[in-house]
Amino acid sequence: MKPLDLDAYPRIVFFAGAGMSAESGVPTYRGKGGIWEQYDYEEYACERAFRRDPAKVLDFHELRRAKVLDCTPHAGHAQLAALQAARPGVAVVTPNIDGLLQRAGVAVAAELHGSLWRLRCERHGVWTDDEAGGYRHRHCMECGAWLRPDIVWFEDMVDDSVFQRAGQLVAEADLFVSIGTSAVVYPAAGFASLARQRGAYMIEINPEATAASNMHDLCLRYPASEALTGAFPVPARG
Ligand code: APR
Repeated sequence: MKPLDLDAYPRIVFFAGAGMSAESGVPTYRGKGGIWEQYDYEEYACERAFRRDPAKVLDFHELRRAKVLDCTPHAGHAQLAALQAARPGVAVVTPNIDGLLQRAGVAVAAELHGSLWRLRCERHGVWTDDEAGGYRHRHCMECGAWLRPDIVWFEDMVDDSVFQRAGQLVAEADLFVSIGTSAVVYPAAGFASLARQRGAYMIEINPEATAASNMHDLCLRYPASEALTGAFPVPARG
């Protein structure tokens, strides 16, 4: 795999999908062993399910938290963190909720679908709950209402300010790198076409072809860790 000359791209946006976490052992959503193959999201990960049985939904998300805590960031995560440390124009946006990028020291500019490590009360706002193990609180300390995972579930509205921040970065990117996304869930999947429209050079990192492969200039059919360490060199310090 040929290392890219990243000096040609002052502003780079990495869009890190669930495939970015796959080599750390966090299951993706679609494809072999995908989460939605085992669990019906309408039972465990949508507002209706939460209203119907909040404890069941929180139990499911506690399972996912425990699973993620058993996983560690891989060499691809470390490469992104090193690239950001060496190059001011490197931004990372992600629909991932697992927090692995942050655990690797990556500065995430926009968590498009929220986080397993936050809960929210519709009236009293967001609570960070990033301790290992189960949620410390399942009810709002202010009003006693059930706390809801601060995650964008299917049929939820997205957080406009988060998407605007990501859209700004993508619109200005000289290079847009899609990592490990099936590119089927909108509006997040729309960022690739925005980058393309604005003239960014487009790279897809995914062992398999996706719905968006044809809008990329270069498709690296490798796992994320191999492609990131092989094709995205970190400049020597100094
Ligand atoms: N490296 C790179 N890509 C990989 C790897 C790997 N090691 N392993 C799997 N992939 C690819 C798969 O080929 C697939 O195309 O990662 C992609 C994962 O696709 P999805 O599971 O659909 O993940 P994603 O696109 O991030 O899902 C978007 O869907 O359910 C919602 O909110 C959820 O954020 C999620 C959204």
